[in-house]
Amino acid sequence: MSTKIDEIAPRIYRLSTLVPEIGPTGFTFNQFLLDDDEPLLFHTGHRSMFPSVRDAIAQVVPVERLRWIAFGHVESDECGAMNELLAAAPHARVAHGALGCMVSLDEMADRPPRPLTNGETIDLGTKRVRHIDTPHVPHGWDARVLYEETTGTLLCGDLFTHLGDGPALTEDDILGPAGAAEDLFSFSCLSPSTPTTIDELAALAPRTLALMHGSSFTGDGSAMLRGLADSYRERITAAGA
Ligand SMILES: [Fe+2]
Ligand SMILES: [Fe+2]
Repeated sequence: MSTKIDEIAPRIYRLSTLVPEIGPTGFTFNQFLLDDDEPLLFHTGHRSMFPSVRDAIAQVVPVERLRWIAFGHVESDECGAMNELLAAAPHARVAHGALGCMVSLDEMADRPPRPLTNGETIDLGTKRVRHIDTPHVPHGWDARVLYEETTGTLLCGDLFTHLGDGPALTEDDILGPAGAAEDLFSFSCLSPSTPTTIDELAALAPRTLALMHGSSFTGDGSAMLRGLADSYRERITAAGA
């Protein structure tokens, strides 16, 4: 198992591990490391991937300097190595939505997490991340995204999930590949609030969309998110037909 490292926005590094056995073209599991005075990791990766992810982190910053551990929702690829990282980084703290802390993480994390209210920011030094609650989008009651305000980077978690081992960063359409993955996996919750929640993210007008699975996107993130919201509207309509 090897983890590739690419800088997809200034001092935002994508750590990517391909699992060739998943799906017809393989599937990537990506973490994002925000290198700053208080380094933040978004997604820990599976516990079984921890040695490879830890070594990749160490090529950017010493692991013990990690200050924040964040992820989209409670799931093994999102936070499976949370406690391994808390052990490796003695000053690190998990930061998640207050509801997710209450429901899961107060019990699961080896040190108390920092609960965040919707819209609350954490100052990393030069970067600033904003916590945004997105309950059940794409899945999980505790679901959230993070928006890095200075680079306009939306840390999307599972939104736009797609297969294959494409480039770290692309300007090409990611909606088509995301639709194909949704057809294959049915991973998203088709809740009545799903399209409007994604439309609210489009209003941020992000310049970069950092994806947990597949290539990250640079360009008109707002248009891409509106397209994703519309695609879910169509799926919800079709499901009710
Ligand atoms: Fe997920
Ligand atoms: Fe995921």
